[in-house]
Amino acid sequence: MLDHGQAPPLTQRPANPLLRRKPVDRLVSEAGQGEGGALKRSLTMWQLTMISIGATLGTGIFVVLGEAAPQAGPAVTISFVIAGLTALFSALSYAELAGSVPVSGSSYSYAYATMGELIAWICGWCLVLEYAVSVAAVAVGWGQYLNELLEGTVGFTIPETLSAPLGEGGWINLPSLVVVLLSMVFLMRGAKESATINSIMVAVKIVTLLLFIGIGVMGIKAGNYTPLAPLGVTGISAAASSLFFSYIGFDAASTAGEEARDPKKDLPRAIMLSLAIVTVLYVLVAFVAVGAMPWQDFEGTEAALAQVMTNVTGHSFWGVVLAAGAVVAIASVVFAVLYGQTRILFAMSRDGLVPKAFAKVDEKTGTPRVNVLIVSLFCGALAAFIPLGELANATSIGTLFAFALVNIAVVILRYTKRDLPRTFKVALFPVTPILGFLACGWLMVSLPGATWLAFGVWMVVGLVIYFCYGMRRSSLAPEAAEVPTEK
Ligand code: ALA
Repeated sequence: MLDHGQAPPLTQRPANPLLRRKPVDRLVSEAGQGEGGALKRSLTMWQLTMISIGATLGTGIFVVLGEAAPQAGPAVTISFVIAGLTALFSALSYAELAGSVPVSGSSYSYAYATMGELIAWICGWCLVLEYAVSVAAVAVGWGQYLNELLEGTVGFTIPETLSAPLGEGGWINLPSLVVVLLSMVFLMRGAKESATINSIMVAVKIVTLLLFIGIGVMGIKAGNYTPLAPLGVTGISAAASSLFFSYIGFDAASTAGEEARDPKKDLPRAIMLSLAIVTVLYVLVAFVAVGAMPWQDFEGTEAALAQVMTNVTGHSFWGVVLAAGAVVAIASVVFAVLYGQTRILFAMSRDGLVPKAFAKVDEKTGTPRVNVLIVSLFCGALAAFIPLGELANATSIGTLFAFALVNIAVVILRYTKRDLPRTFKVALFPVTPILGFLACGWLMVSLPGATWLAFGVWMVVGLVIYFCYGMRRSSLAPEAAEVPTEK
């Protein structure tokens, strides 16, 4: 159990429970502590970087690029840069907060320290959209690539009855369930083991993309780049909105704050490094892809990069290699994002906002095994049986909302905790976080009405849960314990 006695002295309790904030000192002093044990601090800077790349590089580049190229034309490369810049503003804020409040709750914990419990809960609830729902959505994409690979290698595909949920022509999406359960098995072994498996998968996907660049570059025809922006600025910005999805996940290292060896130093570096590596890869891959295949030909392609490889080499073999790389890449997103979700719920559980089972640590492995089991079964069932529809689209809106809050949190913490040691500081403060906030808002308003509706329903459900459960069970609630809140 937590030792609340370690907490800093009692300060003023706000009259309104929705505004109670968790002191930074207390967030930090509780780091790693769970129910019945503590998380192990084993992750290096490199492994943290791999967790972020693992959670980021996947469906976006292997699938969404194919949808964005017909929107922007050859200028899709510029769209990648714009989406990357939007991510960069928020990444800087994440880096500053991860370096000064190095806990596992990511933006949820930052919001708890700065904007109060209700906003923190809303943020955590949005993170469930970013993480758990996207695990399910990405797992579904994995099944599609698996079929592509099976067809190219053994000439067999999993029948629709077993590869689609009810309502989409099948009974169950078995491949999606399998990839989630496999990830669960590995995640139960321990953070260090999970990080090793993740690093291997990340290496495979980076090599696959480098191979694509190396071979694809030979097929570039200068004529494919003109006209550069056939659909104008509107096309470029529409494609940038879709491609923002491909950057989701760079914040995953911030969910590993309590398992990092030197979180204050390594988390900011891991976040910035992963974003830099991913952006360079995205821009190069996009540049080569639209140079090697006319942008109009991307319309309707499901496995765009595999198609480009086959066209350039004239052999389907290379398309199969690409499909195999994509299978590993997308599996690693499932794995790393699932990891992130378990650690966010771990932090929320320690704060009493979700049941204590999520913070129970297994003594032998030093991992929250019950948490991993519950989250995996939930995500697996979601992927296997539910046609995700608009809820999957809502992943981006939930992420953007959480990012927007992080940009506000960095500003608030600079003013409320001036003396807090910061290993990384956002440049050009406060212009950068303000731009980050505006960029997130701009991308949010450009999302369709149906996505907003799904988001609204999601929020209402979250608020009902908070008012019926979290508000009373919070470790900052008067009845929970005589614990401090911050002025
Ligand atoms: N960024 C992740 C992907 O592209 C969600 O799959």
